[in-house]
Amino acid sequence: PQPVLYEAEDATITAGVVESNHAGFTGRGFVNYDNAVGSAVEWTVNAATAGPATVVLRYANGTTTNRPMNVSVNGTVVSSGLAFAGTGNWDTWQTKTLTVNLVAGSNKIKTVATTANGGPNADSLTV
Ligand code: GCU
Ligand code: CA
Repeated sequence: PQPVLYEAEDATITAGVVESNHAGFTGRGFVNYDNAVGSAVEWTVNAATAGPATVVLRYANGTTTNRPMNVSVNGTVVSSGLAFAGTGNWDTWQTKTLTVNLVAGSNKIKTVATTANGGPNADSLTV
């Protein structure tokens, strides 16, 4: 099936805010994670069939410090401390791709900051 883009600003945000003060985002803005451990975005995504799916997170990190996050699928961490390295500035967006196993139908994909810097700014998740 065609990939579907899910905007971060439409996802469930824990300790973060929707902003639009940096260029280059899609939709209405992006999520600025609070700079704290545990700030998170949870996307609800659909899968036509069970099995491996390619997940692409679009993000910006205007610092030179990695902003790692744990990625969980339906409550299980599937990637620990996934790196979100600096992108040069807050207007420059890059993608991080991973493959995860999904169930058929609705799935919860959550990205949780693991350091006091919080996560990178998050624009979208494509599945
Ligand atoms: C700046 C930037 C934010 C970013 C923040 C951070 O304040 O404008 O978009 O989220 O830095 O360091 O996390
Ligand atoms: Ca932030």
